[in-house]
Amino acid sequence: MTSIAILHASQLVTLAGPKRPRVGSELSDLGIIQDGGMLIREGKIEIVGSTEEVAKNARDVEIIDAGGRVVLPGFVDGHTHLVFAGNRLDDFERRARGETYEQIANAGGGIWSTVEKTRAATSEELFKQAQIHAEWFLRCGTTTIEAKSGYGLTVEDELKILGVMQRLNEETPLEIVPTFLGAHTVPRDVAQAILPASRYSQTGLSASRYVDLVIDEMLPRIAKEKLAEFCDVFCEFGYFSLEQSRTILTAARKRGLGLRIHADQLSNSGAAQLAAELNATTADHLEKTDEQGIVAMKSAGVQPVLLPGSVYALGSTAYPRAREMVDAGLAVVLATDFNPGSSPTPSMPMILSIACTHMKMSPAEAITASTINSAYSLNRSGKIGSLERGKLANFSIFDCEDYRELAYWFGIPQTHSVYVKGERVRLWGAQATGL
Ligand code: NIG
Ligand code: FE
Repeated sequence: MTSIAILHASQLVTLAGPKRPRVGSELSDLGIIQDGGMLIREGKIEIVGSTEEVAKNARDVEIIDAGGRVVLPGFVDGHTHLVFAGNRLDDFERRARGETYEQIANAGGGIWSTVEKTRAATSEELFKQAQIHAEWFLRCGTTTIEAKSGYGLTVEDELKILGVMQRLNEETPLEIVPTFLGAHTVPRDVAQAILPASRYSQTGLSASRYVDLVIDEMLPRIAKEKLAEFCDVFCEFGYFSLEQSRTILTAARKRGLGLRIHADQLSNSGAAQLAAELNATTADHLEKTDEQGIVAMKSAGVQPVLLPGSVYALGSTAYPRAREMVDAGLAVVLATDFNPGSSPTPSMPMILSIACTHMKMSPAEAITASTINSAYSLNRSGKIGSLERGKLANFSIFDCEDYRELAYWFGIPQTHSVYVKGERVRLWGAQATGL
């Protein structure tokens, strides 16, 4: 492994700070070093400081001049649905005509339509498509993502998806933290076996049979083969009830998995309180969570993962109460929710833009929420999420001088280059045009 020194970052955004998730005013403290640099050996950060200080120690190393650009830890995207087949262009067009997420799902679109395509795809086909998705994340300056299964919904197909993630981890520079989301929706074929077609939407009866499959067959295999670190459930009216979510997540905890929950996205079902009751690591979405949910999460130390991309793409304006959550002292995380239905974006800068404009987070708060705080939510705070001595040298250089530009200019990629463990894995940027 080569040793390198990065010099002349206009702002080296270190995110250095206390060894715990950032809350309250700490979210605004980015630990910026003006004209900063880093010395990197064996893939790890050895010195972080001013260009002058780093240059003094930079003997026998390759020098990389950041040219007055911003350097940031690689984004850590704490909620994605990376592996699926096809797209949902028809849903997109229907939404443009005014149909809702629920209407589209009931009319044969929605999660189930992606499940059908994903089941029909071979593992090789899924890998090829996910490889392209992985490339998109890198293109946006993201170096670690959490990725959920959930478009298979049979033992075999869930294992196929988690297997693709494992292979991506081995064959691409993007780090993937796998989550098992067998309880994403009740498969129509399970429901259909019990009820006439006209009634095979989501009933308690069909769902409970599927819950048994998740608990008795999927979880044991996945835990035994160590294919996932977390378990997630879509806790929502018409998907999995509070009671079913509790049963699945309790079983997952017994098998050693950490817990995450799709909570209160379309309705306030008390899922944020359930996350608190189960000491889940995160509760995600929270568009409909009220003050009681916020208080419950605070008391149990649950990290809220806010996904404004899905609010935006569903054409809603009902964003989660980010300011109240920050004021309540929650260690807020921002993520893309990358998926073909409700949030087709891999772009963390796009999420920063929406978070600042629509949820009234400051650019600094948004960056903390998508780096160090998300690293905590993935149990990776010792290795990634900030640029500090001893951590992995995972970082991105952006074609701008001020970190706030990442949230300010939107719809244009500003990534100049991306480094993983001290190796430059991608280079784009103004360099190519000589600017
Ligand atoms: O996080 N809410 C459930 N799951 C996804 C949507 C998945 C899909 O529509 O395919 C979400 O928004
Ligand atoms: Fe999601």
